[in-house]
Amino acid sequence: MEGVETIEGRRGDELTAVILAAGQGKRMRSALPKVLHRVAGQPMLAYPVALARALGASRIVVVHAPGQAESLRELCAGCEMVVQPEPRGTGDAVRQVPAAHRGNGDVLVLYGDTPLLTVASARSLLKARRVGAHGAALLAARLEDPRGYGRVVQDERGARVVEEADATAEERALTLVNTGFCCFLAEALWPVLDGLEPSSSTGEYYLTEVFGRMERRAVVECGAEEALGVNDRVQLAAAEAVVRRRVNRALALAGVTITDPANTHIDAGVQVGADTIIEPYSFLRGQTVVGGGCHIGPFAEISDCRIGDRVRVGRSQLESSNIEEGVSIGPFNHLRPGSVVARHSRIGNFAEIKNSLVGPDSDVHHFSYLGDAVLGRRVNIGAGTVTANYDGIAKHRTLIGDEVFIGTDSTLVAPVSIGDRAYTAAGSVITRDVDADALAIERTEQRAVPGFSARRRKRSKDAPAG
Ligand code: UD1
Ligand code: CA
Repeated sequence: MEGVETIEGRRGDELTAVILAAGQGKRMRSALPKVLHRVAGQPMLAYPVALARALGASRIVVVHAPGQAESLRELCAGCEMVVQPEPRGTGDAVRQVPAAHRGNGDVLVLYGDTPLLTVASARSLLKARRVGAHGAALLAARLEDPRGYGRVVQDERGARVVEEADATAEERALTLVNTGFCCFLAEALWPVLDGLEPSSSTGEYYLTEVFGRMERRAVVECGAEEALGVNDRVQLAAAEAVVRRRVNRALALAGVTITDPANTHIDAGVQVGADTIIEPYSFLRGQTVVGGGCHIGPFAEISDCRIGDRVRVGRSQLESSNIEEGVSIGPFNHLRPGSVVARHSRIGNFAEIKNSLVGPDSDVHHFSYLGDAVLGRRVNIGAGTVTANYDGIAKHRTLIGDEVFIGTDSTLVAPVSIGDRAYTAAGSVITRDVDADALAIERTEQRAVPGFSARRRKRSKDAPAG
């Protein structure tokens, strides 16, 4: 029906999300912009951007400080970027949005330092604005300790926000606080915003002031946990704890056993398959994807890896590597970027593997370094094997064929290639290619000195004491 507001808004109505990220973030005491500090592996700003996308916003505008466009580019792909020349307050930040991006319908303002707000709460905020045909709806939360937040005052003059710096003692005692998330009817917002005066006490232009000037306004409440604004690093850690709890809970409900959620750190966005068990003090970071039926940890640290089904990872550190199904990785291994361990291979204790392919059904059991190597299937790497891949100037490759047996304490000086089914003898330094089916042995022959020990003992007995 034309012109009738429904829960979904007027047909064809737009939703413009404006994300404020131009504040100085002084309280972080950091060289890094506040909104780029990470919460559960994601820059803080990624949370409101994802929220705006989940709401189906027709346009997302990010207001940022001068000189930050480059560092925000990837994170804000598809968003309109607007600069606020000077941090003169949240009202001033919204005011920078040029006419071309102002839109009709709803304007939802999100703060870049408020990562915990849920899609459900944002939806109920939109719904309240639309159903009541209000000029604005503000999201508020009741906090035990409201310090640092603007207080929501509701009296005969209607609802409004009083900033802590401007509040009377009575107002400061109020526990309903402004989350900063506010939905405006576009046509009501822009004229008021353009006529906004700065606060007499701080000289800043408050967006909260704009809310108070709307003709009809609503206040919607969300959970206290969602309201957390990150101004300093104590609040950053608090936000991290909340996201971690949410991630672990969602995984547990999806069939992952996390034996000690309080001590298991899984980044937002990591995927884990059903029937995987994750033991304490394990870290799954970045873009990691873990299959089903795996057993991870305790003390595993896995960043940006793809891990297949039924993989076992002990207390090892894995980075940007691909581990196929059925692989077993024991304790104290380090897989550095670019490594692939193909299915059913076993990586033992104290192996370092960098930019290498370990073919299927191979064993790299003890104390070895594989760098820039390609191994075939069913290869055995003996204890103490080292690929000497670096000559001080350049890196070189080691190629090892199928079913090769590398004897204990072999040094493979790259570039070198070992043919299929070949052997290297223990203790050999291999500097030339080895043919298929051959044995390469490079060590001096063993010599025996008969009676050595008896002579030695006799000598020491005959020697004068002291
Ligand atoms: C703000 C609210 C307060 C609310 C609290 C919730 C105002 C005036 N106050 O206070 O009522 O309880 O958030 O967390 O809005 N920003 C800009 N440009 C600026 C200033 C800020 O883009 O000039 C951005 C910041 O990057 C930040 C957000 O706006 O993401 C909020 O600014 P901040 O200075 O943290 O406001 P608070 O003091 O927390
Ligand atoms: Ca804040």
